[in-house]
Amino acid sequence: MVRMFVLGTLLVAFAVVAPPPAAVAQGRTAMHDLVPAPVSVRPAPGAFALRPGTAIASDDAGVAAYLAGVLRPATGYRLPIRREGAISLRLKGAPAHVGREGYQLDVTPRSVTIKARTAAGLFNGVQTLRQLLPASVESTTVRPGPWRVPAGRVVDHPRFAYRGAMLDVARHFHPVDTVKRYIDRIALYKINHLHLHLSDDQGWRIAIDTWPRLASYGGSTQVGGGPGGHYTKTDYREIVAHAARRHITIVPEIDVPGHTNAALASYPELNCDGVAPPLYTGTRVGFSSLCTSKEITYTFVRDVLAELAALTPGPYLHLGGDEADATSDADFAAFLNRAHPMAVSLGKTVVGWHQIAAPAVRHSPGRVLQYWGLSGSDPQVAEAVSGGAKVIMSPANKTYLDMKYDPTTRLGTTWASLIEVRTAYDWDPGAHLTGVPESAVLGVEAPLWTETIVTEDDLEYMAFPRLPAVAELGWSPRSAHDWEGFRERLAAQGPRWETLGIGFHRSPQVSWPG
Ligand code: ACM
Repeated sequence: MVRMFVLGTLLVAFAVVAPPPAAVAQGRTAMHDLVPAPVSVRPAPGAFALRPGTAIASDDAGVAAYLAGVLRPATGYRLPIRREGAISLRLKGAPAHVGREGYQLDVTPRSVTIKARTAAGLFNGVQTLRQLLPASVESTTVRPGPWRVPAGRVVDHPRFAYRGAMLDVARHFHPVDTVKRYIDRIALYKINHLHLHLSDDQGWRIAIDTWPRLASYGGSTQVGGGPGGHYTKTDYREIVAHAARRHITIVPEIDVPGHTNAALASYPELNCDGVAPPLYTGTRVGFSSLCTSKEITYTFVRDVLAELAALTPGPYLHLGGDEADATSDADFAAFLNRAHPMAVSLGKTVVGWHQIAAPAVRHSPGRVLQYWGLSGSDPQVAEAVSGGAKVIMSPANKTYLDMKYDPTTRLGTTWASLIEVRTAYDWDPGAHLTGVPESAVLGVEAPLWTETIVTEDDLEYMAFPRLPAVAELGWSPRSAHDWEGFRERLAAQGPRWETLGIGFHRSPQVSWPG
């Protein structure tokens, strides 16, 4: 037993051997069917069977309620929550090395035990337990079972602290329920941040009381000229709370000083010439800029960030900073050198697209650059890292979920690359950028821009199966990286997505069961 922890990374080799697709099609799972691949998996003989009266006992009421909520609809079982139970979730007894988000899961024919050091760790263990149950457990209506969990031990913890997805709700607005379902989907793959791109040229999507026309007018359209929309503060709090119950932190982005046409159209005084441009429903980039020489611009930024910070329990405010082509380099730096300290003074850590690595932009404490470039080298990013910046890896030619899979993909664009599943998977976030060592990489994020993405079905088609690929890069140890093993484990997820109603891309690179 003890040796197993010492040899944890060697045991990863076992984790990447998937059962034959026939077993998956018959609804059986094996300890190896997991995405992302755990640090170590040791199968044992036998299985635990869920029964109507199986009790759940937990040191964290929220995770117990979540687990019962996942299991009850398909099983139809009561699954009472009690002080003691055959399923127990405990905040003590986990090995120290699982850290803040890791867990140990032990399954025997008599019990299921998850031990972790935090509720987030228990929650991650619950996602593993969920994937060890048959795919039909994802059904919203009662299914026959049997509900067996293969026996064994999983000991697991993430490689990177930040594992993110991004939704662009500015180019096309996506309603609260869609965002909540996306949160439910990403939780299954142990993603722990959802970045919401809340403003862009085509729309402003969050109510700001001190500048009400941002949402009421700036949010009134979208790409192609549809009705747009925005989140009220109540809506937004609902999203934040839904995410928090899934141990996901919302990272709100207000993109400045470029990508600001919706704000400029709403308030003429934010324009250098005092004239509001019309609302914009096209897809060009790089044409708009806040007027960096006007004092009212800084009042605006301060007001918006203060209201956003008050809505945001998480540590980060994302201030964009990309494609500010209509702002001179000097104005860009002068503007960010005032805007970033505003976020810091609100108690938040600044995140920005990697253009904020421009040398004249001063470092702020804990600053995070989100790298979306196409190259494996960016001297400005490397320089900012040597000055203390951390990096979220979102290379557009690997992680942008709006890129087409292949030339026939109905949705999406191609400017960064075609991205089939293997391209999304086969790279190393810890060694991608010269001069950015793994220790400076906070994690990975898969952004989904929505110029061409209109419906929830569109979102899901582009996210699956590439989002789980990026999630695995964020969670699993480097030593577990193995395309052949990944494609087999991914295949085992297909029936789960079918049950969840996710219309995923049936990549020809994967042998889907059934
Ligand atoms: C970006 O794709 N403009 C961050």
